[in-house]
Amino acid sequence: MQTLYSFSELRSARESVRGSFGLILTMGALHVGHASLVERARQECNYIGTSIFVNPTQFAVGEDFGKYPRTLEKDLAMLESLGTDIVFVPSVEDIYPKGYQTWVDVADVTAPLEGKYRPGHFRGVATVVAKLLNAFTPSKAYFGQKDAQQVVVLKRMVRDLNFPVELIVCPTVREADGLAMSSRNAYLNPAEKQAATILYRALCAAKAKYDAGERNAETLRAAMQSMLDSEPLAVAQYVSAADPETLGELDRIEKGVLLSLAVRIGKTRLIDNVLIEDQ
Ligand code: PAJ
Repeated sequence: MQTLYSFSELRSARESVRGSFGLILTMGALHVGHASLVERARQECNYIGTSIFVNPTQFAVGEDFGKYPRTLEKDLAMLESLGTDIVFVPSVEDIYPKGYQTWVDVADVTAPLEGKYRPGHFRGVATVVAKLLNAFTPSKAYFGQKDAQQVVVLKRMVRDLNFPVELIVCPTVREADGLAMSSRNAYLNPAEKQAATILYRALCAAKAKYDAGERNAETLRAAMQSMLDSEPLAVAQYVSAADPETLGELDRIEKGVLLSLAVRIGKTRLIDNVLIEDQ
């Protein structure tokens, strides 16, 4: 595995490999969820590139950029054991050199849900992903369904800006108790970690209603909210039953629904979702 620190090193490493190239972008603090993306890419591509970069521009003011977990040595060992060929670990100055002033703004789909609570978040995500897609020129790039709105935003960006890449969305990896794996789970104390299982339980309660034939989106939102209300450590920011493409809230579910929520457990903000596709 080659560990590279600058765009020029990355360019020459990339130019020296032929064949299908799979890319996994991360902010490090790697866990089994990240590993699942690398494993999927390993099955489908000749070469695997990854990046570790805690992207300051996607953290809103007052968020956890400073204390975001940084576990570089462990991350590199994990990527090596998974068969990664290239890992790119740029500095903030490499990505945003002095005088930097070019941004990728995806419009409508960044407005609701996370966009309401994390101003500027998706501008930061879209910009860094665009830069890294340009630098790696992958055939396929792998993202997790865990960040459902991120996937919608990046699919839109790739279509709108004609990036010659296929985005592959991989299922959310969960702990045995249903808690979605997340680097931010490291912030939770044992009582909070137990309480955090309410996110997936709320999503499952709504999905059970859907499976039983319920198609009123408000009924599903209410089912999630009342589950969350039953957990004293949980404070919901939003519960949503939205159109999977536009992310607009639905009244009646006709063609699939993205159930999603953002919840504070103590000081930690967690998100999760279940996508029910058109059947
Ligand atoms: P990060 O949170 O490190 O996640 C990197 C990738 O791993 C994302 O595609 C995310 O959806 C996926 N992932 C995280 N947890 C997962 C889980 N439990 N199951 C499956 N996949 C999971 O997302 C980002 O970083 C950043 O926004 C980034 C795209 C790197 C841009 O900075």
